[in-house]
Amino acid sequence: MSGISRREGLMIAAGMVLTACAGSGPSSATGTMTGPSPTPAPTPTSPTSPTASLNSAARARGMRFGSTYAWSTPGADRGSFANPPYAALLEADCGILVPENEMKWQFLRPSATAFDFTRPDAMIAYAESKGLAVRGHNLLWHQPKWMPAWAESHDYGPNPAIEGDRVLTEHIRTVCARYGAKIGSYDVVNEAVNPADASLYETALSRAIGGATATLDLAFHTARTAAPHAQLVYNDYMSWEPGNANHRAGVLRLLEGFRTRGTPVDALGVQSHLITQRADTAASVSTQQADWRRFLDQVVAMGYKLLITEFDVRDNNLPADIAARDRAVADYSRAYLDVMFAYPQLSDVLVWGMCDRYSWIEGFEPRSDGAKRRPCPYDSDFKPKPMRTAFAEAFAAAPART
Ligand code: G3I
Repeated sequence: MSGISRREGLMIAAGMVLTACAGSGPSSATGTMTGPSPTPAPTPTSPTSPTASLNSAARARGMRFGSTYAWSTPGADRGSFANPPYAALLEADCGILVPENEMKWQFLRPSATAFDFTRPDAMIAYAESKGLAVRGHNLLWHQPKWMPAWAESHDYGPNPAIEGDRVLTEHIRTVCARYGAKIGSYDVVNEAVNPADASLYETALSRAIGGATATLDLAFHTARTAAPHAQLVYNDYMSWEPGNANHRAGVLRLLEGFRTRGTPVDALGVQSHLITQRADTAASVSTQQADWRRFLDQVVAMGYKLLITEFDVRDNNLPADIAARDRAVADYSRAYLDVMFAYPQLSDVLVWGMCDRYSWIEGFEPRSDGAKRRPCPYDSDFKPKPMRTAFAEAFAAAPART
């Protein structure tokens, strides 16, 4: 291509596909830079014909857009950088990427004495080659079922606090030293709060160290020293849907404790695995957003930044009809993004997968009517959906970050 980079060409191509699928309509602006706006009415999303990438739309407001990605052998049908149609979506729309699984203990650390960096090394090299930033997910997924089997059965010996401290700090120091400035933000701790009763989970590692609180504090202090340049994030899936009051309360208590003890935590990662509640998404939003704003207000009042780390939508309680379902999912997404984007403390927005084809949700909770899930901005044929337009319009309507 003369005078145009491959990346720009991909952006334009993505925009042209959208143009072919789109109509037009208004968007509404929400919020100010001094704090979130009064409760906005949910904004119906209407398609536009953006030729800019989602990350360009985000950058215009001082924000960034990104996605998860996976490792695979070249050409494998995965949500991988080595799968050309998926890589094209990443390169067209993203400014920041996050490995979906490859940096977790279960994948990176096959035993107490071994690390295997083959996959994340390749993924980070790809991101670097495209000029894309990378988030690290995660340095500690604080639940027994997500720790590797060896860590749960490890012999922590006669001085378990010392051995537990060694195992955890070695892990964090090794990962942070390997990637240095290549990773600018880490989910240091993932999902430590039990939504059932707002307590903190315990693992064999945390019991050895002396309890969950000491373990999480140690993780953040170690990360601060090992990666002083990096944003340190507590990441969890408490969300705005009904039934999450306990989870939100537990996360608030944890965040308050971090501040009281001087634990170095910079931001709350709001995963944002949304679940539609009924076909009338506006009605859901009007009942959900007051509690959600109260939660976010308390988080930012403690001085935390916010990130959307894992956005997708489980299309429950919606008809199988694809057009109706996509419309409702896009409207629900837009209403949520409007609420979130009104917080000037939020600047990074990542989806948990660019296209429906590779989303974890289909395997985790298929729809009872057998219709394939449609949780992502692009469909299983890599075509943009109304959700992508919802992101573009929400960025366009967002107040600028300075
Ligand atoms: O790669 C292996 C493959 O070699 C093996 O044959 C196969 C057999 O089970 O497993 C494959 O690994 C699976 C992996 O996804 C890759 O597909 C794991 O079993 C499976 O547990 C893993 O699920 C991931 C899950 O986290 C647990 O790590 C999902 O892809 C991933 O989307 C999900 O992501 C989480 C975030 O980390 C935290 N927040 C919630 C989010 C969704 O659950």
